[in-house]
Amino acid sequence: MTNSITIRRPDDWHVHLRDGAMLQGVVGYTARQFARAIVMPNLTPPVTDVARGIAYRERILAAVPADMDFTPLMTAYLTDNSDPAELVRGHAEGVFTAAKLYPAGATTNSDSGVTDVANIRGVLEAMAEAGMPLCVHGEVTSADVDIFDREAVFIDRSLAPLIRDLPELKVIFEHLTSEEGVQFVEGAGANVAATITPQHLHINRNAMLVGGIRPHAYCLPVAKREKHRLALRKAATSGSAKFFLGTDSAPHAREAKESACGCAGIFNAPFALESYLAVFEEEGALGRFEGFASLHGPAFYGMPVNEETVTLERVECTVPASIDAGAAELVPFHAGETLRWRFAG
Ligand code: DOR
Ligand code: ZN
Repeated sequence: MTNSITIRRPDDWHVHLRDGAMLQGVVGYTARQFARAIVMPNLTPPVTDVARGIAYRERILAAVPADMDFTPLMTAYLTDNSDPAELVRGHAEGVFTAAKLYPAGATTNSDSGVTDVANIRGVLEAMAEAGMPLCVHGEVTSADVDIFDREAVFIDRSLAPLIRDLPELKVIFEHLTSEEGVQFVEGAGANVAATITPQHLHINRNAMLVGGIRPHAYCLPVAKREKHRLALRKAATSGSAKFFLGTDSAPHAREAKESACGCAGIFNAPFALESYLAVFEEEGALGRFEGFASLHGPAFYGMPVNEETVTLERVECTVPASIDAGAAELVPFHAGETLRWRFAG
C-alpha cells in the first residue's frame, strides 16, 4: 500500500480569496498548499481594470503569512463595457493572467457581469489575438431554465457558438459539474480545458437535500445527479490534460450560509489536496494525481511547472467542525469527517 505520495507543488486554478478581514483569515490555507492560484475578481466593486488588479494583488501579497511562498495570478472581471485595450494591456504587463466571464446574475457578485456574450465580442477577439485566456462561469441565467440544466444549456446557447467563432481563444470551462460539460470539453479542441472542484467529485445533489437542507453543500454551479458526479470523477482521474485542479474555494461566514437565503460557496481550501487525493485513491488513480494537480494547469496556461514538491502521508486527519477566520466563523468542506491523507508540507 502506498503510504506517502510526493508530487510537484500544485497550483489552484480557481479560488476566491475575498478581501479585507476575510482575505486575512483565508489566504494562508491556499498559500500553504499551492504555489500559485488564479484569483477570482468578484469583489465589491469587482476587479475590472488594471489599477484595481494591481491594488488587489498587493493586498493579497500583504496578507500572505511571511513563511509562505505564494503567487496570486490575477483575473479581470468582464462587464458589458470592458475595454479591450485595457485588458490586453493588463495581460501584457503581467497583471492579468486571464479574464473572467460571469453571465450577469449567475452567482455571488455577478450583477455587473455580461448580459450577452455578443456585447463583449470585441474583447474576446482582442484576447484571442493576445493569447489571453478566458475563464468562464458556464451557466445561463434565464428564469425559464431549471437550475440543474443551466450548465448544459449554456454550452448549447453560448459556449459552443463562442468557440466555433473564436477557435484561437483559450477557454477554461470553470468548475465543471455535468456529464454534458465533460463531453463538450473532451470533444473540443486543444484550446478548451476545464477545472474541477473537490466538492463536485465527492457530492451529488442528495448531499444538499436529503434529510434536511444543508447549506454548506450549496455552491454554484449546484451539485447535480450521481451520473454527473461519476462522469466528473472519470474525467478528473483519466489522465487527460484537459482537466485540472481548481478548488473554487468560496468562503462565506457561517451565518451567511445558514440563512433563509444562504450564499453559494464551499470553503474547501483547508483540506483541498487531502480531499482530491481521496478521490484519486478511490478511483485507483494515485499515479495520475500529479498530472491533475500540478502539470495540466501550467501546460494549458503556458507556464512552467513548480520546481518544489509537496508530500501527503497516509495519516488520518479530522476536519474541524468550524474554522475561526478572524472576522468570520467558516464551516469547511468535510467538516467533522475524517480524511485518510494528511498534507505534510
Ligand atoms: O458557489 C459559488 N461561490 N460559485 C460561484 O460561482 C461564486 C462563489 C462565490 O464567490 O461565493
Ligand atoms: Zn468561483
